[in-house]
Amino acid sequence: MEKSKPNPAKAVLVTGATGFIGRRVALELAQRGHRLLLFCRPDSVSRLDPLIRQLPEGYPKPEIVKADLDLRNLGIKAPARRKLGARVSEIFHLAANYHLGMSEKAAMLTNVDGTRRMLDLAADLPRLERFHFVSTMAVAGDWQGEFREEDLDLGQGFEHAYGRSKFLAETHVRGQMNKLPITVYRPGVVVGDSRTGEMDKIDGPYYLFRLLSRLSRLPGLSRMPMIIPREEDSYFHIVPVDYVVKALVELASQKSSRGQTYHLMDPHPPTYRDFYTATLSALGFNGHQISRPVSRMVRLLKTKLFWPTTRLACNSAGLPAEMVCHYLYRVTYSTTNTSSGLKDKNIICPRFIEYLPTLIEYYRQNMV
Ligand SMILES: NC(=O)c1ccc[n+]([C@@H]2O[C@H](COP(=O)([O-])OP(=O)(O)OC[C@H]3O[C@@H](n4cnc5c(N)ncnc54)[C@H](OP(=O)(O)O)[C@@H]3O)[C@@H](O)[C@H]2O)c1
Repeated sequence: MEKSKPNPAKAVLVTGATGFIGRRVALELAQRGHRLLLFCRPDSVSRLDPLIRQLPEGYPKPEIVKADLDLRNLGIKAPARRKLGARVSEIFHLAANYHLGMSEKAAMLTNVDGTRRMLDLAADLPRLERFHFVSTMAVAGDWQGEFREEDLDLGQGFEHAYGRSKFLAETHVRGQMNKLPITVYRPGVVVGDSRTGEMDKIDGPYYLFRLLSRLSRLPGLSRMPMIIPREEDSYFHIVPVDYVVKALVELASQKSSRGQTYHLMDPHPPTYRDFYTATLSALGFNGHQISRPVSRMVRLLKTKLFWPTTRLACNSAGLPAEMVCHYLYRVTYSTTNTSSGLKDKNIICPRFIEYLPTLIEYYRQNMV
């Protein structure tokens, strides 16, 4: 897309711009010439500073819409809502309560009710050309087999409130597709920038980086034999944030993306085995690797009897216990729509083995 000067008459409303992905999406939109309106909770306004500092030179200061997904009418008063009606041409809804261990109530309030409120706002905006909804691969829950971009409710179950809430939110969003111009994006487990390693928070594989790098500092441990998973059919669906952002903003710019769902995921994800082996080696573990099937053990850890101990052990190792369950998922995600939308756009998901050392280097330098 051609870079152009922001058109003050038209603006894109971005929710979640203080967050990990939202900040980068807002920046990419600004770089592509969009005028930004940033939806932000009053107490979080200062968290927009890193984004504001990164905006291109001469870019007009983004307007801030003080609002909260958890409040009636999003906490936006009628006159402010009318003003939005005159300006907003697109909404990028990324804000969510994103934490695997969170309560059902918190997840429903922000992710489900909050998304409904965003849909109500969208329905009130006469100039709206698109509502972009950032969902997640977690909507597939415990589905076993291929999950396609057009799939949603296949009778899957959910291990945590986050996945269930995003599934319900996406269900509402899709329910409005015949009334509103909607596009849905489902990223995988988003990791740092593949070019710089930059990452904002401990999440997904970073729990493992943290645990292993602590262990590697114990005398002799890096030379100890380590168990690695034998299973070859359990994939770790990580995807670097730079790819997610570029792909999302490019697809968003296409007329043909209206009514579509896109998996923003690595079409060739590593297995947990490959990921773990490569991480051990990048963190300097050079002892013998013993390959063992670990699914049976994980199943045992998940039973009612062992779950409280599993939770306690995970908590003391700094891991969300819910992550353990992911190892049992045997799901693959097709990326047909994404591949076809990005054809000839030179936006390609890099292979994990190429960028893993960059992620680990950044982690060691900045996050320990
Ligand atoms: N990170 C991943 O691996 C991943 C993977 C798949 C999908 N996703 C989806 O991508 C989106 C962004 O994720 P992220 O990792 O960037 O999340 P994040 O870093 O945790 O950021 C969450 C954002 O949501 C905002 N927010 C939370 N509750 C809010 C409320 N009640 N009202 C208004 N804003 C609220 C936060 O604002 P405050 O500054 O006020 O807290 C923050 O800007 C989410 O929809 C998530 O489900 C993420």
